[in-house]
Amino acid sequence: MEIKELEKLLSEMSLEEKIGQMIQITGSMLSVDSLITGPTETIEISDEMLSMVGSILNIEGAEKMREIQKNYVDKHPHHIPLLLMYDVINGMETIFPIPLAQGCTFSPEMVEQAARISAKEAAASGLHVTFSPMLDLVRDPRWGRVMESTGEDPWLNGVMGKAMVRGYQGDSLNKEYNISGCIKHFAGYGLPDGGRDYDNVEISERTFREDYLPAYRAAVEEGCRMVMTSFNTWNRIPSSGNKWLLRDILREEMGFDGVVISDYSAVEELICHGIAEDGREAAKLAIEAGVDIDMVSSVYVKYLGELVKSGEVEERLVDEAVMRILKLKNDLGLFENPYKDSSIENEKLLFACQEHRELARKVATSTFVLLKNEDILPLKKDGEEQLAFIGPYSDTVQLYGSWSFPTKPEQTVTIKQGVEQKKPGNIFAPGSFILDEEQRAKCGVRENYTKEELSARMDEAVEAAKRADKIVMCLGEHRYQSGECSSRAYISLPENQLELLRRVYQVNENIVTIVFSGRPVELKEVSELSKAVMMGWFPGTEGGSAIADVLFGDAVPEGKLTMSMPRSLGQIPIYYNNFMTGRPNKTGNPAQPCMCYVDEHTTPLYPFGYGLSYTTFTYSDVSLSQTEMQKEDVITAKVTITNTGKYTASETVQMYLRDVKGSVVRPVKMLRGFEKVTLQPGESKEVSFEIREDMLRFYNIDMEYVSEPGEFYVYIGTDSATENMASFRLIKTEGK
Ligand code: GLC
Repeated sequence: MEIKELEKLLSEMSLEEKIGQMIQITGSMLSVDSLITGPTETIEISDEMLSMVGSILNIEGAEKMREIQKNYVDKHPHHIPLLLMYDVINGMETIFPIPLAQGCTFSPEMVEQAARISAKEAAASGLHVTFSPMLDLVRDPRWGRVMESTGEDPWLNGVMGKAMVRGYQGDSLNKEYNISGCIKHFAGYGLPDGGRDYDNVEISERTFREDYLPAYRAAVEEGCRMVMTSFNTWNRIPSSGNKWLLRDILREEMGFDGVVISDYSAVEELICHGIAEDGREAAKLAIEAGVDIDMVSSVYVKYLGELVKSGEVEERLVDEAVMRILKLKNDLGLFENPYKDSSIENEKLLFACQEHRELARKVATSTFVLLKNEDILPLKKDGEEQLAFIGPYSDTVQLYGSWSFPTKPEQTVTIKQGVEQKKPGNIFAPGSFILDEEQRAKCGVRENYTKEELSARMDEAVEAAKRADKIVMCLGEHRYQSGECSSRAYISLPENQLELLRRVYQVNENIVTIVFSGRPVELKEVSELSKAVMMGWFPGTEGGSAIADVLFGDAVPEGKLTMSMPRSLGQIPIYYNNFMTGRPNKTGNPAQPCMCYVDEHTTPLYPFGYGLSYTTFTYSDVSLSQTEMQKEDVITAKVTITNTGKYTASETVQMYLRDVKGSVVRPVKMLRGFEKVTLQPGESKEVSFEIREDMLRFYNIDMEYVSEPGEFYVYIGTDSATENMASFRLIKTEGK
């Protein structure tokens, strides 16, 4: 439709019809199976209003969605089609690694391809919007939702967020298999007190702007058409009622002109937060703050009409919200074709097809992070070595993250299937369950076993270890121990699995451990008892084949951590882009007071950007094209990297900057460039990065976003701990 036609449509809509567009319900309210991702399945709504809602979340299946869409379009007074939305955050039927793992590829290209395939399968199923990318900066692995983020670096999250938006939306929403993305959770949800989901977020405006907002801004710049408000407060104001956040920052400063949807029942929760007396006040706060769609709460449907009729809320605010919603439907082409790409044939053609599986396998191999390897990996395919795969993850389909609802578990390639396909004749023993009894109950995993059963499992595994030359331990937290409402006060592996590892170690020390988790976990003991440790995260549908590829050297590990791996819980929050302090822990002189613990290191077990390969790389010194920069200059920073090992492999060369002195303190390092290079044994390559003045800007003492003259360090190396550095000076910029 042309804009004029949309404006005419809006002008003809009754107030009830307009408010209907601002309501989102669950499929269960239409007696349709629907994933419930919040505290309630239904809201109080009349049948008349139910027939006029604008969108439905979390139903799936082309046949079902076509039927629902047809009913709505036929019955609606102006035949306005529904928006159908779903949490497709790491794939629909073909499940990709969790976003935290995808970030470890340091490959925006791969992340975009994964999003593209996710969008195709989602669109085939009848979906128009996915609630992704999640761009919350994360620094606290106790928080369960770190698995949905791409990590602790603001700039990298922005690069990955842009890639996901491109993958979902393409260059025009109405083209085949393109769906709208949805940036979430706006804003600053990732640092709740104590890592407790939904808890208070206490960060200064400068930190908010420097660290938490950039990734959302990057995805807005990429053209993402929807933003979801977060459950948390910032500055003690819940996002769904925060006018400064939604209108001043998101719309005015960032220029966002798409649809703002609340998170699940978050508008109604303004009452519980204590900033709304009742639903009526919550509706007023939310519409004035700029929430266009009320996701599964009764507030807009019950109170918005009377607020407008009483004059307390200008109808203009409703009209603006509804126009944004109609524009999104129009740009998706839904007025012309309410069914867009949904068809049973398309589902059959695309769901977990060979092409999609192959990409999922390739992406998964690139997410694995090799943390330690004392010459035990890769394993030999053709050797006589007897291998034993021990642990609850050695033969399970549960290799995907907690936001992987649509997939069918039987689609997953297990580790047993993957390795047997490459090298038959291995021993497999689960040894324990993923969780012990108490944790199973907490995670709602209904499995109960007798002590005898548990003991028999452990004994069987120890016997298997005795018969093997090498052991691959497949251990990890349960998939329900990460994701929403899955914060953990302890981030070690389940105790029953650590006990299994100890028992196996007593009979055979040739151990490789693969860790499956949705967060950085405490790995001190695992690392001490293993000759090799690799993060498998939750690798998805092709997890078993990808693990086999890497274990046997058909793929070489190339993943790099995007969250610091703590040595212990007590170090949290721990992240690489921290600050010098006045007494840095660099002195090494215990008598000298400095930033430290008396009982722990201040550095992580493995830092941001870290990841080993089967080969080795050397880096030359950093060279700069010039050591002084005027505002318009571009400095080129170069290194030569050489593959000094025996395997062709990929390495992510990382470039960090440090502003040595500013009108406010500046991080010790900031990632501002990376390039993934693949080198043959003995091959060298020159890698260069451009440094421009705009990359040096920050919120100065007066909260102006400017660069300041002075010295800057340029680090280029294999991870954020690199000291390979050169420096330059930024000469006086205009007016400063
Ligand atoms: C949930 C999550 C959000 C998700 C939404 C819809 O509560 O916070 O990430 O997209 O509800 O399922």
